Amino acid sequence: MALPADTDLGLSAEDVLTTTRSVRKRLDFERPVPKELLTDCVRVALQAPSGSNRWLMQFVIVTDRERREALAAVYREAYEQYRQIPTYIGAVDKGTPERNASQQRTSGSADYLAENMHRAPALVLACAMGRPDNGPSIAKTTLLGSVMPGMWSFMLAARARGLGTAWTSVSLFREQETADVVGIPIDEVTIAALSPVAYTLGTDFRPALRPDPEEVIHWEQW
Ligand SMILES: Cc1cc2nc3c(=O)[nH]c(=O)nc-3n(C[C@H](O)[C@H](O)[C@H](O)COP(=O)(O)O)c2cc1C
Repeated sequence: MALPADTDLGLSAEDVLTTTRSVRKRLDFERPVPKELLTDCVRVALQAPSGSNRWLMQFVIVTDRERREALAAVYREAYEQYRQIPTYIGAVDKGTPERNASQQRTSGSADYLAENMHRAPALVLACAMGRPDNGPSIAKTTLLGSVMPGMWSFMLAARARGLGTAWTSVSLFREQETADVVGIPIDEVTIAALSPVAYTLGTDFRPALRPDPEEVIHWEQW
């Protein structure tokens, strides 16, 4: 499989892990993304763990303009719904001026994506074969745990190759309409995430503001 010559940015594992941001305002909407590159990111994604080694991960990759526009239109409607709920990204109080300023920047970026999703050259839906909605907690976590690490690997692989992605779940407010655009049978399949994929405008991304590790570690017991 022939990949473009400038595919590998040569980032270290540490760089890839700490600078893979949700890219929204720096997506290059004009530059097409070769299908071979998207396939290569899926190849990497498939190396992620999966419960009982069952390989339940599936990807719907949409490049067709009309379908992208239809998916993005549903996303926009869903995003309006999301803006009304208390956990809307722009309504979350992070407790300090520095953290709130960062939160508001991210919120502006998320609003921008909702307006511009259709312009991304590819939209990727990460799915898992199964629908354990009313099942025990282990069934749900195992199913989601069998697709989310893979999707994150896809995003890390994309970053290493000069592509930007952004994890989104808002379209699940309109799950059936989202599924209908691409024919996903949601009585059998769980949609875990939707991401735009595009080359990034520039490749210099930085680690983001995050809590100090000691804020989240519970040594020995909760
Ligand atoms: C489960 C999950 C759902 C998310 N849903 C959305 C979404 O619907 N729309 C969006 O713009 N970003 C979404 N995000 C991206 C987060 O806003 C983003 O990861 C967070 O603000 C941190 O920014 P960073 O990824 O650039 O470090 C989601 C992230 C996760 C993990």
